[in-house]
Amino acid sequence: MKKTILTTGATKNTGLAIARRFAADGWNVAITSRDAAAAEAAAKEMDGEVLGLGMDPANVADIRAAFAAVKERFGRLDAFVNNAAHLGVGLSVFNSTEADWDAVINANARAAFFGSQEAVKLMKDGGSIVFISSCHALRSVPGRILYTASKAALGGIVRSLAVELGPLGIRANAILAGAIRTDRWDNLTDDEVAARRARWPAGKESTPDDIASTVAFLCSDAAHTITGTEIPVDSGIGVCLLQYNKDWMKNDEYNRKYWERGRGNGERGM
Ligand SMILES: NC(=O)c1ccc[n+]([C@@H]2O[C@H](COP(=O)([O-])OP(=O)(O)OC[C@H]3O[C@@H](n4cnc5c(N)ncnc54)[C@H](OP(=O)(O)O)[C@@H]3O)[C@@H](O)[C@H]2O)c1
Repeated sequence: MKKTILTTGATKNTGLAIARRFAADGWNVAITSRDAAAAEAAAKEMDGEVLGLGMDPANVADIRAAFAAVKERFGRLDAFVNNAAHLGVGLSVFNSTEADWDAVINANARAAFFGSQEAVKLMKDGGSIVFISSCHALRSVPGRILYTASKAALGGIVRSLAVELGPLGIRANAILAGAIRTDRWDNLTDDEVAARRARWPAGKESTPDDIASTVAFLCSDAAHTITGTEIPVDSGIGVCLLQYNKDWMKNDEYNRKYWERGRGNGERGM
C-alpha cells in the first residue's frame, strides 16, 4: 500500500525538502501554501504523485478543507508534518499586540493542533505526526516571545498526542530545529555566515535535507517506539549557553523605539 503524507508550508526551504524526500521515497505527497497557485506549481515540479493545496495554517476551515482534499485524492494518510510557521521576528513583551498574538500562536500552535485532529481521522493504519518546532521551544532570545510561546506549546501538544493516540498506533514527535540554511541565507555575506557558524558547537548549519532525513526517520518503522519526544537537530545550539546582550532593545530595529522612550525618564515604554 502506497503511503501518504501531508506537509504544510512546503513550497520552499524545509517544507519543500521534506516533500521532495517523501516523493522520492515513493509516497503520495500533499503540500500546502497560503498561495494555492504556488502550491500547485511546486507540486507540478516534483516527480511522483504530489497534490498542491491552498491552506492558511491559522484558519481551521482551511485546514479541514485541505485534509478533505487529501482524503478525496489519496483516501488515507500515514504522516502529517506541521512545518509552516510565523517566525514572529521582533515581537517582544513591549510591542506585541493582540493581533500579533493571534497571528503567531494561531499559525504555529493552532495549526498543529487542528491539523493533527484532522490527520488522526485519516490515519486508519496508524501513522506519524511530526511538528517542525525549534530550539526556541526550550530557550529564548529577546524579541521572539510569541514564537517561543508557540513552539513551547508544541511540546505540550506532542506529549498529549503521544499518550492519547498511542492505542491507535499513531506516534507524535517534534523536531527542535535550529539554524537551517534557507533562502534567507542568500542575503548574508561570507563574514556573516562565518560569524554565525562560529557560535555553534557543530560549526555548521543544517540543510533542509537534514531536517527531511529526521522526518523520514520519525515516519519509518525504525522509529516505531519513539513518541512524545522533542528531538534537537540544531548544531548544538540548544545545549550552548549564549552570551546575553543586555542592550538588546537598543540594537533591535523592531524594539528600538521602546528603548528610546524608556531611557532617562524611567518609563518602560509600554
Ligand atoms: N530556518 C531556521 O533556521 C529554523 C530554525 C528553527 C526552526 N525552524 C522551523 O522550521 C520550520 C521551517 O522553517 P523554514 O525556515 O524552512 O520556513 P519558512 O520558509 O520561513 O516558512 C515555511 C512556510 O511557512 C509559511 N508561513 C510563513 N509565514 C507565515 C505566516 N505568517 N502565517 C502562516 N504561514 C506562514 C510559508 O508558506 P506560504 O507562504 O507558502 O503559505 C512558508 O513557506 C518552521 O516551523 C520554523 O519555525 C526553522
